[in-house]
Amino acid sequence: MVLAEFYKTAQRILKDVVHLKPEEELVVAYDSRTPHEIMDVFRQVGIAMGSPTTSVTFPKPPLTGKGAWPRATLPRATLEALRSADAIVGAGVTYAEGVGDVIAAGHRMISPGMGPQMDEILVRTVGEPDIFKLRDEANRIAELWTDAKEVKITSKEGTNVTIDKSGYPAFPVNGFLDEGELWDTLPPAQPGTQDYIQLSGTFVFDGFVAFQSPEVGWQVPNQPIVVNVEEGEVTDISGDKVLVPLLKTHLNGFRDPSVFRGPVHINLGTNSNARLSKHQEMERVRGIIDCGWADNSVLSKFMGKHTKSRVNTAPTHWDMLMLRPSVFLDSKQLVKDGEILTDALK
Ligand SMILES: [Fe+2]
Repeated sequence: MVLAEFYKTAQRILKDVVHLKPEEELVVAYDSRTPHEIMDVFRQVGIAMGSPTTSVTFPKPPLTGKGAWPRATLPRATLEALRSADAIVGAGVTYAEGVGDVIAAGHRMISPGMGPQMDEILVRTVGEPDIFKLRDEANRIAELWTDAKEVKITSKEGTNVTIDKSGYPAFPVNGFLDEGELWDTLPPAQPGTQDYIQLSGTFVFDGFVAFQSPEVGWQVPNQPIVVNVEEGEVTDISGDKVLVPLLKTHLNGFRDPSVFRGPVHINLGTNSNARLSKHQEMERVRGIIDCGWADNSVLSKFMGKHTKSRVNTAPTHWDMLMLRPSVFLDSKQLVKDGEILTDALK
């Protein structure tokens, strides 16, 4: 049963976010983790908007979730369908082999998340809020973040890191495919840096821990997790008695130092309607900071603005959230204990 309101939300996504034109070919691509009934609403809306629309489904990868390795391998016919699309709604395809090349070749894609709660999550976080205001705000935060010479992140839990901003632009990650942008994810928004930043300092995470392992997937730690970093190399992970051993075992299992590099992205969630439910929604909770670690080579193809030195190629990707950060852009405070100070955006 799909929420009745989801039809309007899907309309908003295709019309205002994807900017779908009647003459454009739309492909709706998804695997078995997302119910057919939900994805079919995108197909119905595409057809109603006058767009020739095709749905393609494919088997889910053997391991699932972000950073899953081995990555999904799409059937050749599925990739061909993506290559012939003007616009793509892709649920569960972002990390599949070859999709980054499809996007880099000029086919635009929105990633709406995946799973049986997708309709409820998108109605709440895209259909209900003023997403145009969220877009403007994310653009403004990215502008201020880019202009700052130094970005400092602290927390009462013990985070203390400073990003020397020289050479690291910020991206709005506002959820919209505006002005030639080829890829983004929903819900909005998550402005911040998308580069491998070689800083030194201490991060303390008390929100979600997300990494690919059969035991964990993603969970909130009972005790904060402390990650110490020296010039972009993780030197120590300590804290939560359950999750830290699992994370270390998982990462050590790769026998590859690249999985201990990072952060490879630092983003500020801005969506008041987002909850700590699941990826991707949990990364957009207003006022949290999401840090990504290990691989950013897959997503760098989607972002398209990176130099090689700011990309880390690794066989997995993991994320951690801090719930009540404070963020300073030079001397201006942007976030205080998890609250975005909107006066700072003027
Ligand atoms: Fe990430």
